[in-house]
Amino acid sequence: MAKAKTIYSCTECGASSPKWQGQCPGCGVWNTLVESVAEAETPGAKRFAALGGTARLQNLSEIEAREADRLPTGIPEFDRALGGGLVAGGVVLIGGDPGIGKSTLLLQALAELSAGNAVLYVSGEESGQQVAMRARRLSLDTDRLQLLAEINLEKILAVLQSEKPQVAVIDSIQTLWSDQLSSAPGSVAQVRECAAQLTRLAKQAGVTVILVGHVTKEGALAGPRVLEHIVDTVLYFEGDTHSSFRLIRAVKNRYGAVNEIGVFAMTDKGLKGVNNPSALFLSQHGQDVPGSCVLVTQEGTRPLLVEVQALVDQAHGNPRRLTVGLDAQRLAMLLAVLHRHAGVVCFDQDVFVNAVGGVKIAEPAADLAVLLAIVSSLKNRPLPAKLIVFGEIGLAGEIRPAPRGQERLKEAAKLGFTRALIPEANKPKQAIPGIEVIAVRRVEEAVERLRELD
Ligand code: TYD
Ligand code: MG
Repeated sequence: MAKAKTIYSCTECGASSPKWQGQCPGCGVWNTLVESVAEAETPGAKRFAALGGTARLQNLSEIEAREADRLPTGIPEFDRALGGGLVAGGVVLIGGDPGIGKSTLLLQALAELSAGNAVLYVSGEESGQQVAMRARRLSLDTDRLQLLAEINLEKILAVLQSEKPQVAVIDSIQTLWSDQLSSAPGSVAQVRECAAQLTRLAKQAGVTVILVGHVTKEGALAGPRVLEHIVDTVLYFEGDTHSSFRLIRAVKNRYGAVNEIGVFAMTDKGLKGVNNPSALFLSQHGQDVPGSCVLVTQEGTRPLLVEVQALVDQAHGNPRRLTVGLDAQRLAMLLAVLHRHAGVVCFDQDVFVNAVGGVKIAEPAADLAVLLAIVSSLKNRPLPAKLIVFGEIGLAGEIRPAPRGQERLKEAAKLGFTRALIPEANKPKQAIPGIEVIAVRRVEEAVERLRELD
């Protein structure tokens, strides 16, 4: 194939240059030129004809809107995160830290799918032997699972064209390289070009393509961020590699809602779905400890109980604020609210906050639990036993309701919690058996009520 011309275009202003330069000749910004394939120069009229002549206007109501048919992967927790299963011609990106279990999950899913569908696993990271060894260790049925160990995009596209599998996994997009570009595999240009080509093929041939992408903390590698716009569905693998639990969260889905998460446990037989995950993220203390507060958070349709831990300690020098699994900016805000409205001072203290089990909590309903964990650690007094907390905190010190309060309370009661400190607006009209509700309106009131309890 003739090598296409490449140009360097600026990611800020779009100006292009035939050679790489440190500074963009158009806007003067540094380090923004990336290599890309030059579009062949076609005269306007020719290009118009190639696009199919005239563009046809349609009324939106004339277009038949069919629900896409779903292909279940045979792994229910994975299907849940996908919004019900895979869609023909859909492109899914799965991102996550190295070693979190992306290859393991996809190999398991393909083995399940291979029973009734043509599937292909393209491995660019591991040799055929390594993949086979993993499959054997997981006791997977691989009789009908096709493998291609290849990193050249053009060769992979040719195989996909001729084999036309229903589902293809590309592990990983960062290892692929197209011979149209001279930059190294993993560079922004290569990753973008390879993903775009694979997406085009997926739509044309109706192949479901699952791309694996690495995310590095430094973002040094061309992370899958540039891909998020190209693909239909983006899933992120979360979890602490030191604990066995893993979450799959959808952050974008053109075919469904993005609120469901899939929960797995990593075992010596691969990833196993956990269908009742509500109590996973509680650490089992023998006795009550200061600085620990149980939060009921809501993930999609499922409430999860998560232990929030805080450690407040005398600072030496600049006080530090550190969070794991929670928003650091939000912590700074909560400390200010705590000071202004409840008179609790932390400016000379280091504050560390952690969500147990490597789970990431984005919802503001975690505020009250974080705040009470901090107060508990600062005063060195455990919170009352069997207490759960949720509620959002506003800058004026008010406590705002969380969505689906009833369900959160019911789940906590089911797991044996007997008291709930929650926003006034979430107070159930009818008492929930087994759980005593303490409803609060303001931060100072919450801190006060805590002192009265037990
Ligand atoms: P892997 O799927 O290779 O991660 P990724 O593709 O996201 O980089 O998973 C690797 C980790 O999973 C590795 O550290 C070992 C662990 N693991 C198990 O605990 N049990 C298993 O059955 C398998 C296959 C892997
Ligand atoms: Mg892998």
